[in-house]
Amino acid sequence: MQKKWWHQATVYQIYPRSFMDANGDGIGDLKGILSKLDYLEKLGITAIWLSPVYQSPMDDNGYDISDYEAIAEIFGDMSDMEELLREAKNRGIAVIMDLVVNHTSDEHAWFVEAKKDPQSPKRDYYIWREEKNDLASIFGGSAWEYDVSSGQYYLHFFGQKQPDLNWENQELRQKIYEMMTFWIDKGISGFRMDVIDMIGKLPDQKIGSNGPKLHDYLQEMHQASLLDKDLMTVGETWGASPEIAKLYSKQERQELSMVFQFEHIGLQHKEGQSKWDVVSLDVPKLKQVLSKWQTELGLEDGWNSLFWNNHDLPRVLSIWGNTGQYREQSAKAFAILLHLMRGTPYIYQGEELGMTNFPFEHFHQLNDLEALNYIREAQAQGTSDQTILDSIRMVGRDNARTPMQWDSSSNAGFSVGQPWLPVNPNYQTINAQAALEDPNSIFYTYQKLISLRKDCDWLIDADYQLLETADAVFAYLRQTAEESYLIAVNLSDTPQPFSAAFAIKETVIANCTTPKTLNNMVLGPWDAFCLKVD
Ligand code: GLC
Ligand code: CA
Repeated sequence: MQKKWWHQATVYQIYPRSFMDANGDGIGDLKGILSKLDYLEKLGITAIWLSPVYQSPMDDNGYDISDYEAIAEIFGDMSDMEELLREAKNRGIAVIMDLVVNHTSDEHAWFVEAKKDPQSPKRDYYIWREEKNDLASIFGGSAWEYDVSSGQYYLHFFGQKQPDLNWENQELRQKIYEMMTFWIDKGISGFRMDVIDMIGKLPDQKIGSNGPKLHDYLQEMHQASLLDKDLMTVGETWGASPEIAKLYSKQERQELSMVFQFEHIGLQHKEGQSKWDVVSLDVPKLKQVLSKWQTELGLEDGWNSLFWNNHDLPRVLSIWGNTGQYREQSAKAFAILLHLMRGTPYIYQGEELGMTNFPFEHFHQLNDLEALNYIREAQAQGTSDQTILDSIRMVGRDNARTPMQWDSSSNAGFSVGQPWLPVNPNYQTINAQAALEDPNSIFYTYQKLISLRKDCDWLIDADYQLLETADAVFAYLRQTAEESYLIAVNLSDTPQPFSAAFAIKETVIANCTTPKTLNNMVLGPWDAFCLKVD
């Protein structure tokens, strides 16, 4: 396998709307990001994944693009974007753009034309049918929307304002590859590909993800836009198994660098139920799932993405960790557990501060399209408002989207205006300024983990072995021919027994006082460490 820069990278996801507002309109923007590059440099990250900043009516906060080659006015303009690329590069930070090509906005010129003129060549860029079948939209309701003027239905796997593109149309595919080249020429370092596993859809056969031509398209895309450019690409693939992930990320197949798999995230809800049916953390299952991915995607066979959070998910501390007494300890525990596995780690903005879910009390505090659709559907089915609110407080997407907490001044220093989503009331204690001033803060645990990733070859090369432990303890061994490292984490609020037959050589990182011996010791609540052992 060829070693690449992204094997040593740690990626930081920015949700631009919520990161930093430079002009006081309450919405984060590119100039805001620019003003925080020093902060990101201090954290040490290798790359930024920028959620969409393209022109968009913002029905799904930018995941509904109306012009791929223009910047949304609320975020700035192309010269701001170019400045961001330049300034990031000066600090050794790569920029990965979000590529949303499963669908466009219904306000994209292609769709406007397709809708207006059924004879237009653009009509076939989208998916139209005389009759609808029972395919459901991921955001609720039917996946088909009736267009009165032509008497046909168009497909939208997401919102009604997000018509699906028809990847069977070769001209469309070429347009997308050209657009990718446009951005690559501007100096970006890769793409995060939104719901990329859906581009091979076959709606008549009710196939959404993993359609038969998916990998052909990705190989074609690679040849057309990515070949020999040393870019990093990561696909969002909700339905990937390790077998499928290898198809994407095995190097000689020339598709993607890696994918986001969501099997561990699936443990947040009842098996076979919707995401709103939340269950508590089952540590043995988490161990089993993450270990499976660690062992099945070796160096030769693919590459993992490592993450707990993103803009679609709840804050990990709120769903699986401890947001009270052990907030800092559990935040560091999740970081240490994940960042020492094999793969490329991703940090979602605010995770490095231990930000938490928002205590939503009223539906009108919400903005997310998915949550708003869910409220309507659940109410229609007779679910009580309290039950709906409980689910949203747990897993609603707005939890991750509240403004970044920079300091203890008004609006957490995010904006001098009225923020588009409320600031979490805990910003007085949880904020970047406080974290930077405290040498023991979560921030510095992340900083250390990021620098280890750059410096330690074993993080890439060493194999992985899960250790037998108490249920609530997650411990694994990473070994090369020369070295062994033991990582042990207590994922609970109670002390746990732990024992391993190794001699301790040195402490690599820890969120607690490290033991003198591994023989019959006790891990305190949320204790986590990595030791070099013999
Ligand atoms: C992905 C994005 C999500 C968006 C959806 C539709 O899942 O991460 O935010 O709503 O795709 O583009
Ligand atoms: Ca702004």
